[in-house]
Amino acid sequence: MLSSRPPMGFNTWNTFGENISDAMIRETADAMVEKGLLDVGYRYLVIDDCWSKRQRDPESGKIVPEPVKFPNGMKAVSDYVHGRGLLFGMYSCAGVRTCADYPGSFDHEFLDAETFAEYGADFLKYDFCNRPAAADGPLLYKRISAALRASGREILLSACNWGCDEVEKWIRSVGAHMYRSTGDINDSFASFRDIFMSQRDKFAYSAPGCFNDIDMLTVGMYANGNVGAGGCTDVEYKTQFAIWCMFACPLMLGCDIRKLDGFCLDLVKNKYLIRINQDEEARTPMCVRSEHSGLANVFVRVLSDNEYAVMFLNLTDHDRRCWFTLEDMGITASSGLCLKATDVFTGEDAGTHAEFWQMNLPAHDCAVYLCRAVKA
Ligand code: GAL
Repeated sequence: MLSSRPPMGFNTWNTFGENISDAMIRETADAMVEKGLLDVGYRYLVIDDCWSKRQRDPESGKIVPEPVKFPNGMKAVSDYVHGRGLLFGMYSCAGVRTCADYPGSFDHEFLDAETFAEYGADFLKYDFCNRPAAADGPLLYKRISAALRASGREILLSACNWGCDEVEKWIRSVGAHMYRSTGDINDSFASFRDIFMSQRDKFAYSAPGCFNDIDMLTVGMYANGNVGAGGCTDVEYKTQFAIWCMFACPLMLGCDIRKLDGFCLDLVKNKYLIRINQDEEARTPMCVRSEHSGLANVFVRVLSDNEYAVMFLNLTDHDRRCWFTLEDMGITASSGLCLKATDVFTGEDAGTHAEFWQMNLPAHDCAVYLCRAVKA
């Protein structure tokens, strides 16, 4: 199965926008390997919008790579990426033009899927701008899905219709492997808070084979790049990454990997959070406590191997006491059980918790534990 677990990788858009090139893709591939990101699961290197010439080739009708950005063509870039042990991703759009006004795949779906297969693509992000007014949105995703399936390569379909047409209800049937459910993220706390809140009650549609994609991460951007906005603090990046992991979202890094180091590099390589994100059962977290208009929460996720992930999440702008009772997650007082916890951020033993578990959390912060229910 192409997406039995949430896909992990890197996408050019958040930082680079139209400033993409053969050299920066190769450097990014090198950095993904050298910084240990491939080792922990980040496999896809995806080139987003702005990679092609403004017009199709008049004779073949094909989309053509922009020769100044990609002087060696796209197959050479793909070969390099594959040579580093990574997988290669491309971008197109269901409309006649992409969002940044390059050729889109409308009415060229089968030709373009063949072209991407010739490049050796393993992944296609498929956007939703500039479609003819009469075109049926779901039908356009059916077409590209069929075209990819006919291309002779296994190509993961990353649908990006921003949540239109109640996407979660039909996109799995169409054959997509992940689906953007929201508008575009920018590098600010408010942006990822609002994106998460818009999907908080829709994650039950996300499961092995097709995952809810709440956009590329901004972790590590610190206000630099195409969707830079004001940037986030380390605490906010920690919370962003923990949310994406807890809710089994695709982990597509959006910062400049070549410059990623220190706190954020350690964060995106956190083995406990990745273990939660990639859990084979991909169960939706239970909300066991929700206060302050749903911004202060405790979530419990049932994991494989009789483990639980517990997340205390404070998305309000004030310090909060977050709490829940074990009864809320189904562990009765009479069971004699308590939760034995490991703090995922420190890897340290976080003690045992019976009946009632509470903590004070600063604004925008979270705490996440891997737990087992054991006899007290
Ligand atoms: C948007 C999409 C972004 C990015 C951009 C490229 O529609 O949501 O993630 O792909 O287009 O122009």
